[in-house]
Amino acid sequence: MVGDEFFGDLSNCGWGAFAQYVCADEKAVALKPAGSTFEQAAAIPLAGVTALQGLRDKGQLQAGQEVLIIGASGGVGSFAVQIAKALGAKVTAVCSTPKVEMVRSLGADQVLDYKKQDILQSGGTYDLILDIAATHSMRSFAPLLKPTGRYVVAGGALSRIFQSMLLGPLFSLFGSKKFGNLMAQPNQKDLKFLKELFEKGQLKPAIDKIYPLREVKEGLRYLQDGRAQGKVVISI
Ligand SMILES: NC(=O)c1ccc[n+]([C@@H]2O[C@H](COP(=O)([O-])OP(=O)(O)OC[C@H]3O[C@@H](n4cnc5c(N)ncnc54)[C@H](OP(=O)(O)O)[C@@H]3O)[C@@H](O)[C@H]2O)c1
Repeated sequence: MVGDEFFGDLSNCGWGAFAQYVCADEKAVALKPAGSTFEQAAAIPLAGVTALQGLRDKGQLQAGQEVLIIGASGGVGSFAVQIAKALGAKVTAVCSTPKVEMVRSLGADQVLDYKKQDILQSGGTYDLILDIAATHSMRSFAPLLKPTGRYVVAGGALSRIFQSMLLGPLFSLFGSKKFGNLMAQPNQKDLKFLKELFEKGQLKPAIDKIYPLREVKEGLRYLQDGRAQGKVVISI
């Protein structure tokens, strides 16, 4: 309705840039979570939906299962940790030394610091590995999967993502472990799901910095430098 506050993802509407006004399909948006700021709401759609679809849809994560989230300190990963907890999973999160405390504060049961230990030698086994950094080959994670475990790559080096698109279905033919990749599909239903999690207090966007529109260049540079803990938001 006229005057409603809403949030959404423009990637199905021709993407876009940073601006005060936008024309969007109403199916690309949902009512903004009650009690959220515009900055919190703006942080949710792409990263939140990617995390949700990686865990729940591609990853088929069930309550009580164990999940390893690689890239847990980033935009997508900071949502993935919270959504996995909301789905009832036991979460092991991977990030670098300066971000360990932030990731722990998101609710991770265990945090592995990839600067201090080799994740491939960490000893645990998981029902799902959600890889948002793709720093190792897909096959190298096979020993970390339980017998019917799944590996889903959602981000990181493009070469590794293409490798998983091509070889994942092939590797999945042999044995009971499954390998695949995720291309998030933004949709209103998942926005509403995330809105409800926010309203129940189970999802709080981890916003590191908010930049005004005139400082968009600095905001993008901060993100690109890998210093951000969670999300960077441009405030209009
Ligand atoms: N599949 C999709 O539809 C979809 C949708 C959205 C985004 N993405 C992709 O997902 C990726 C992440 O996006 P984002 O917004 O979350 O980016 P981001 O905020 O920059 O986060 C990057 C993450 O990667 C981690 N990382 C970097 N080097 C690492 C290493 N050597 N070992 C382990 N972790 C490492 C970072 O950890 P530290 O900072 O602690 O080092 C950080 O958690 C990007 O490639 C993006 O293009 C995909």
